[in-house]
Amino acid sequence: MGKPADSRHFLDLSDAGTNAVAAMIADALDRKAARTDWPKGKSDPDAPLAGRVLALVFEKNSTRTRVSFDIAMRQLGGTVLILESGSSQLGRGESIADTARVLSRMVDAIMLRTDDHSKIEEMAKHATVPVINGLTDRSHPCQIVADLLTVIEHRKPLPGLEFAWFGDGNNVLHSILEAAGLMKFNVRVATPKGFEPDPEFVEMARKGGASVTLTNDASEAANGADVLVTDTWISMGQDDADAKRQAMAPFQVDTALMAKAKNDAVFLHCLPAHVGEEVTEDVFEGAQSVVFDEAENRIHAQKSVLLWSFGLLG
Ligand code: CP
Ligand code: NVA
Repeated sequence: MGKPADSRHFLDLSDAGTNAVAAMIADALDRKAARTDWPKGKSDPDAPLAGRVLALVFEKNSTRTRVSFDIAMRQLGGTVLILESGSSQLGRGESIADTARVLSRMVDAIMLRTDDHSKIEEMAKHATVPVINGLTDRSHPCQIVADLLTVIEHRKPLPGLEFAWFGDGNNVLHSILEAAGLMKFNVRVATPKGFEPDPEFVEMARKGGASVTLTNDASEAANGADVLVTDTWISMGQDDADAKRQAMAPFQVDTALMAKAKNDAVFLHCLPAHVGEEVTEDVFEGAQSVVFDEAENRIHAQKSVLLWSFGLLG
């Protein structure tokens, strides 16, 4: 039994490409506008995923990804089931390959949040239904569809925008870099030495025509930026080392750093935030922070990713 010709895996943004990511954002904006003030669990009128079931498989914690995929499926007319590795046979060592083949006989699509990216590649290799990356140690593409949607909603067309990243060169930054090459915006990356992003993603962005600056100076990255982004200094699964926190301290986003950016710059954070570490409370709660729009947009972005994966968009 092969993968249906019209369904697609979404392991990274490049699986979709420039036109499909643009289509995802456009559809998310339309669907969001069409349901202003509606109850969140009410289905969109066309219910394009009626009868479809999505399995949400978690090998790591989640709040936003879990809830937004569930609500997204409800709004598209479908349903979800949640499988936690600790309470499923995955947690007792059943292989990803067998799990992929079993789930493919029982559900219509699989979202996986896991650690090693090779696990989601293995899931995609053996699944005969679409597999969606709900975060790995390498990337977090669904988050970035929501981030781009948020930036556009705040009247910032993507081409030529200057994003500035502060802190750890992690999975979220990797997907921002991938998006930069696809959607033609630029990224200034300010990290301590030794915490730079994987050069593969820097190269990908540059090959796509984005300008990427790597610096160890937070001010240099912030000067004149349109979008300032940070994330936790310690991602899930990483050692909570004092040395890393100390190295990250100069990259905290505070009001002085925000003041170096454009006057209408916005602040993004995928959440969960550690206020007082990577960002100060006045920035997090301030007028330029759009982090809760960004969190809500996980739902609207997820719907577009799902429609694309089912071959119904782009
Ligand atoms: N931003 C994000 O992915 O949040 P969760 O870890 O809560 O899913
Ligand atoms: N970089 C963070 C993102 C959490 C949504 C992590 O991987 O823990």
